[in-house]
Amino acid sequence: MSRRIAVFGTGYLGATHAACMAELGHEVLGVDVDAAKLEKLEAGEVPFYEPGLAEVLKRNVENGRLRFTSSYEEAADFANVHFIGVGTPQKKGEFAADLTYVEAVVEKLAPLLTEPAVILGKSTVPVGTAQRLAKRVRELAPVGDAAELAWNPEFLREGYAVQDTLHPDRLVLGIDSSNPSATVEEVAREVYAKIIEEGSPFLVTDLATAELVKTAANAFLATKISFINAIAEVCDAAGADVVTLANAIGHDVRIGRQFLNAGIGFGGGCLPKDIRAFMARAGELGADEALTFLREVDAINMRRRTHMVEITKSAVGGTLLGSRIAVLGAAFKPNSDDVRDSPALNIAGQIQLQGASVSVYDPKAIENSRSVFPTLYYARSTEEACRNADAVLVLTEWAEFKEMDPSTLNEVVGQKTIIDGRNCLSPRRWRNAGWHYHGIGRNALFD
Ligand code: UDX
Repeated sequence: MSRRIAVFGTGYLGATHAACMAELGHEVLGVDVDAAKLEKLEAGEVPFYEPGLAEVLKRNVENGRLRFTSSYEEAADFANVHFIGVGTPQKKGEFAADLTYVEAVVEKLAPLLTEPAVILGKSTVPVGTAQRLAKRVRELAPVGDAAELAWNPEFLREGYAVQDTLHPDRLVLGIDSSNPSATVEEVAREVYAKIIEEGSPFLVTDLATAELVKTAANAFLATKISFINAIAEVCDAAGADVVTLANAIGHDVRIGRQFLNAGIGFGGGCLPKDIRAFMARAGELGADEALTFLREVDAINMRRRTHMVEITKSAVGGTLLGSRIAVLGAAFKPNSDDVRDSPALNIAGQIQLQGASVSVYDPKAIENSRSVFPTLYYARSTEEACRNADAVLVLTEWAEFKEMDPSTLNEVVGQKTIIDGRNCLSPRRWRNAGWHYHGIGRNALFD
């Protein structure tokens, strides 16, 4: 059955969710306070780079199932299922999550609920938030207890947002046990009927567990990446090869090969801030000791960035002052134009601050990089970035860098030195073409 749905927030999460809910056959209204963003979305344009999203968005705007508005009144009149998909960034100057945007949605929406309605929170929030918001919704809503809030965390990865939303590994629904009713689960099962029919597991929990499922998942992924990066440091010290090692341990199904790519570490709008908010929340709950290992996970991750600067410095003769460095990749990962907490951009900035002249090229993230880091030089192509370079750094594993033929750069660069911050190139191929190849944890001469 088709439902009338409002989605609050039209960033990565909200815009994707709104478009995908329409794709499932629902009538959807996307709500945001940013007029410029709404104008683009209404015209069927995605304000960021996300493969496949533009097609889904356009199709559903054109068929009339997907519309956008800045009016909460319109949303409250139109829909009886309301998703919260706004951001929860790190607070300035502290580890905790900033809940301003989530709270603003609840404070504005709940007083407009004059008919029974369900609010499904998707944003990543510290455990305990949903319980507090559920109570607040009941207090503010004219329909009282018939305005129900549940938590339905999102696990989408940038670059695969549409696929992850339409074909998720699992759906999790946290229900308020202090106000029990069957409605929320029924509504969620209807909204996701097609996905459930396809076989995605649908797990119903209490609110706190649902919130923690999300933070625990991200903490685990971050830990897995820092684990392999710590092993990479040992590989470097011992002359071993971390890629071969990851392949070998990854065959053990209990370990698995995914998220064992050593390199310059994790960044983006989720993992770094989510592990910090998790530590902060555990501290408030008196369980800080349980998560002290996440400090180490964070520290290993941040050390990758300074380590990369050090490798570059030694590769160009001990000082970056006056050297020319080409940086290939600025996005926090490939198939994204997102540069939030991007290790690549951070490293480019540190190298420049140490006196090098840095030329950055990225297939999609130049515009966003320029607004965050306007003092770097941005090239229009790999060749332009690499011209006369003393060292070439590959910091985001875009396909076009992975497939690069070393011979096309032989005549362009000053020195044939390549530093592979994502272990995404073949050391043998580059060495055979006469280059000095440096990987992360790859001192051994294996491919
Ligand atoms: C992540 C989670 O994967 C997703 O489930 C959650 O909903 C949001 O946060 P995302 O931030 O889109 O998604 O990126 P992800 O693919 O997880 O990569 C995060 C970072 O880790 C990137 O900077 C990536 O380059 C890095 N990474 C990933 C590694 O350094 N090594 C790996 O093996 C995998």
